This record gives sequence, C-alpha cells and structure tokens, in this order.
Amino acid sequence: MSARPSAPRPPAEPDQRTAADLAAVLPMTAEVRDGHLWIGGVDTVALAREAGTALYVMDEATIRHQLREYVRWTRYHWPDVDVVYAGKAFLTLAMVRIIEEEDCCLLCASGGELAYALRAGFPVERVQVHGNNKTPQELAECLDARVGRIVVDNFVELERISAMAVERGLTQKVLIRVTPGIAADTHDFIMTGAEDSKFGFGLNQGLAMEAVERALALPGVDFDGLHMHIGSQIFALKSFAKAIEVMVAFMREIRDRTGAVVQMLDVGGGLGVKYGVPDEPSSIKDFGKVVVDGIKEECEKHGLAVPRMAVEPGRSIVANAGVTLYTVGAIKEIPGIRTYVAVDGGMSDNIRTSLYDAHYEALVANKADRPRSVVVTIAGKHCESGDVVVRDAPLQEPEVGDVVCVCATGAYCYSMSSNYNKQVRPGIVFVRDGSWRWSVRRETYDDLMATDLG
Ligand code: LLP
Repeated sequence: MSARPSAPRPPAEPDQRTAADLAAVLPMTAEVRDGHLWIGGVDTVALAREAGTALYVMDEATIRHQLREYVRWTRYHWPDVDVVYAGKAFLTLAMVRIIEEEDCCLLCASGGELAYALRAGFPVERVQVHGNNKTPQELAECLDARVGRIVVDNFVELERISAMAVERGLTQKVLIRVTPGIAADTHDFIMTGAEDSKFGFGLNQGLAMEAVERALALPGVDFDGLHMHIGSQIFALKSFAKAIEVMVAFMREIRDRTGAVVQMLDVGGGLGVKYGVPDEPSSIKDFGKVVVDGIKEECEKHGLAVPRMAVEPGRSIVANAGVTLYTVGAIKEIPGIRTYVAVDGGMSDNIRTSLYDAHYEALVANKADRPRSVVVTIAGKHCESGDVVVRDAPLQEPEVGDVVCVCATGAYCYSMSSNYNKQVRPGIVFVRDGSWRWSVRRETYDDLMATDLG
C-alpha cells in the first residue's frame, strides 16, 4: 500500500502475475487481448501510440460504478445520505459532469475547484466548500454563486461569512468542522482528525462548542450541522466508528446546551484503496454500514433524531479508475545493484512516490500476458534521484519503446501534478465502451509560458 508506514513491504521479487492477475488494482474494464492491456474496450498500446505519452487514462465505467456503490451502500441503511465527491482527488470538467449525472454532490477545496463546478454548469446547491484558509475572495465567490454549504474551519471566516451574507441579504448554510481527536491509521501527512491539527475546531478545549454557539447567534448564517474528516487512505473502519461516537456525543451536548438540532452530520472521506496486490482496504459496502449504522445507533443511544448524513469520498472513487501510460526511453542496468527503466514522465505527473513513499503496481501494456519476470525501478525524467515512479517493480522484461502502465494513479496524481523542469503535463483521456476522448489535452510549451509576461 501507499502511504501507510505501518505496512512495510517485503523485498520485491519477480512474480508470475500478468495483467489479468492485476485486475484488483486496475479499472474494472481491464482485460488482456492479444497480449495487450485493454481498458474500457480500448487497446492501451494503440492509444499510447495515437495520443502520445505520458498519458492519464480514466475508465468512466469504474468511476460511475464507485459513485453508485457509495450511493447504494449508504442509502441502503438510511435514505438521506449525500455522496459528496472530493474534487481534490481528480477534477476536470468531464469529471464534474459525471458527478452531476450520477446525482452526487461536489466538494470543492478552493475557488479554483468551485470555478470548475460553475464552468461545467454543476447545480450549485449541491456544492460544498471547505478549506482551512478560504480567502475573502473565495468566500465572496461562494456566496455570490450561492453554494449549498460552507464548511467553517475557524472563527475569522465564520464572522466573515456572516458579514458577507448580511451584506448580500442572504443566509448561508454552514457546517462546523470538528476535530474529533481520533488518530487514524494512516500516514502523518494526511492524518487530519487528531487534536493537533490545522483543521477544524477541537472538542476538548471547548472551541467546537464555541463555534456552534457563535454560528447559532450570528446573522446571515444558518447552522446546519457538523463536519469531520479524519484522514485519507484509511483501512481500519474502527477509526470512523470511534470518531462517529465522539461526534454524536457532541451533537447531544449541543442539544443539551443550546437546544439546537444538528440537521446534518458529514463524516468526510478517507476510505483506503488497493494500490498493491497485498493491500486489503475495506469495501464501500462495509464503510456504508459502519458509518450509517454507527450514526443511527449512537443517535438512538443519546435519544437524538437521526440527522441527514454526508460522506466525502475522493480517492476511492477515482484511484483504481485511472492508469498512467508511459513510453520506455532508456534502460540502465547497474550490475549487482538495480536496473532503472526511464519513462517519459515522473514526479511531475506522480509526486506520490517521492512524497509519501507510495507504491504502485506496474506492467508492460504491450506484454500484458507475460509474467513479470524481472524487478526494476521505474524512474522519471526529472533531474533528481528521488524522481522514481515505482521502486522495485516486478515487470515484464522491458525494452525501449515499450508502453509501461502504472496502475491506480487516478487519484492525487493529476491533481498534484506540476511543471517541474518545465515538463508539460500529460493529457487525460476518458475511455468508455470501446472509444476514447480527450478530457484535458496535453499541455504545450505555449501553455507553459501563457502566464509569463516576458
Ligand atoms: N474531505 C476532506 C475535508 C478532505 O480533506 C479530503 C482529503 C477528502 C474529503 C477526501 O479524502 P479521500 O476520500 O480522498 O481520502 N494528497 C494525499 C491525500 C490528501 C487528502 C486530503 N484531503 C495523497 O495523495 O495521498
């Protein structure tokens, strides 16, 4: 798995796996035909040749399936649950439209993400905006657009929203972000629910209660409920169960102290995904049960009405829907040490390996039916030695010109991409039912200089 320090990987060895055996980390439409990897009914080798590499490939069927799984397994237990896709994981205009068509909501983390929602004509009442330092301009954009809900992260912005809403003659629905004090089982950098966190209001020092009381008192602000997000790439559902206990106990405190009813409880995102074959994340089905039944049971325990609920998945919607295709440009064998397979991308299109020591499975798309008989390191083309895409990757015997497919790159790769070394960002194609279309074209050198005033 990727970002969890608790799951050390055994030394890599060649394995007998072919693309067929990697099905669990690949998009659901992946198959092998004539030795090639096909996704969404499209030959990825032909696609790489035609569209060029590096290339992000997104399988629409997998994205829609994952969204439907969330809708299905949360509403199975309670009818009133919003599935709020976290746009930070992967956002393009085509993606926004898919979210809309699947009747889901959209979580925006910045004015830029909100701009995508607006440009795509996404129903703005289904937009929720969060962030620990929304600028006054971003708040104005939210209010002017009439976004559905704003997740409030600090007192300054609470006052600002109130003043701006009053100025505009509006009432803005808000959720108060609470830090439940739960240390989720994940990487430190992406753990957000613990007490010492830059996000939200802590419970123990009374800050969360103060935020709720102020939200109840301020004009222009409609206190709708509570929000939490305990981290990302979480495997153990007990972290969610524990946090829910804390949150519902707080709902009761709110009722006892202020008489106010929490209408909405948003438990955030964070469900882990399978990056490596040995990873065993929990299913969306189990997540839905733990979250929704957990809230229901805790509410019953405290004599509270069950609130509307929201979940905010990002990674688990898109990670396994995506792959990155690269072309092998050079192979360097250092006898007795390792073999570097250099590809035409790297840390500019996937920073997660260098940043989190993330691990990915890879295969040669044009040799997809052969076993991965060697272990190599897939290196990028950037000028630093940490620029590695997959360290110690079992792979089919590679040759220059081969198309390498790195699996499960649909989340937080494009969205965290950069132009380091003035590398142009890859294009993004969506595949579906045997055809493909550009969602985002490959950047050009002119794009690189578009904002440079000379
Ligand atoms: N809701 C909130 C408030 C969040 O901050 C996040 C992610 C999500 C939902 C979605 O979480 P997910 O379901 O994707 O785990 N760059 C890191 C991940 C950072 C996640 C930040 N917040 C990575 O590449 O692993």
